[in-house]
Amino acid sequence: MPTTTEQVLTEEEQQAHFDALIEADQRIEPRDWMPEKYRKTLIRQISQHAHSEIIGMQPEANWITRAPSLKRKAILIAKVQDEAGHGLYLYSAAQTLGISREEMTDALIEGRARYSSIFNYHTPSWADMGAIGWLVDGAAICNQVPLCRASYGPYGRAMVRICKEESFHQRQGFEILYELSHGTPEQKQMAQESVNRWYWPSLMMFGPSDDASPNSAQSMAWKIKRFSNDELRQRFVGMCVPQFEALGLECPDKDLRYDEETGKWILGEIDWDEFNAILDGRGPANTDRIRNRRDAHEEGAWVREAAVEYARKQRERQRFAA
Ligand SMILES: [Fe+2]
Ligand SMILES: [Fe+2]
Repeated sequence: MPTTTEQVLTEEEQQAHFDALIEADQRIEPRDWMPEKYRKTLIRQISQHAHSEIIGMQPEANWITRAPSLKRKAILIAKVQDEAGHGLYLYSAAQTLGISREEMTDALIEGRARYSSIFNYHTPSWADMGAIGWLVDGAAICNQVPLCRASYGPYGRAMVRICKEESFHQRQGFEILYELSHGTPEQKQMAQESVNRWYWPSLMMFGPSDDASPNSAQSMAWKIKRFSNDELRQRFVGMCVPQFEALGLECPDKDLRYDEETGKWILGEIDWDEFNAILDGRGPANTDRIRNRRDAHEEGAWVREAAVEYARKQRERQRFAA
């Protein structure tokens, strides 16, 4: 016999309650009923986001041992550690939707999960640490600030803290590039060369154009997503233009112009074939990224085993004390 009002609600009534919460800009929490598609969409999005944070540690970790000074090394270590933290908040948020950490990790290391295409490029130059912070973390901020208001509570709350740290990442990247672009001609050239490589892939981070992005409309109706891919890309370009000037670097998009009439940026052609090839696993570093993650997971097995054993002993101790 049902004991709470919740149990006697029909599926239609639960759906109506969910719709009303979304309509009123209220948060959906893990205890709330939610449509299965909403849950699955969030699991996909949050886990992909978590994987991106963790895989995203690799291109920059490449430079920790070769940073040009102790100060730069300390900043880079802090930044890469932040990304590990972001991955952990996000895996935890995804777990509240009923998927386990193991399932998500297995999908990643077996090559079944997606993560942001941007992390499949190599980082051959120190200036790449600047370009990644400025452009990649900068694009991430544009994407993520609206996610702080995502309808799913644990996701939105994780994003608030992540965004604060991303601002630091963007600043430190900009500062690396500023120093280089105001240094020797060779240093300035190094900064320009790196920005030339990272600019277009950072625009791809917003995903395909709105008309080629089938899931976007539903995510916007559910208030997971607040702005379309193209709107966010516009915002990012608008943010970059004055910063290119401050850096004294050239924007690699020679066709970029501002259309006064529509108030929009007209961008040059984005190479979506390159984007799709990377998503299909054919980017410059896809294989390395997954292999490194798998190796790190295997090498870390003893840490997980020790933690489980420690937790078991703690529980036993508590039982004896009781
Ligand atoms: Fe991050
Ligand atoms: Fe970041």
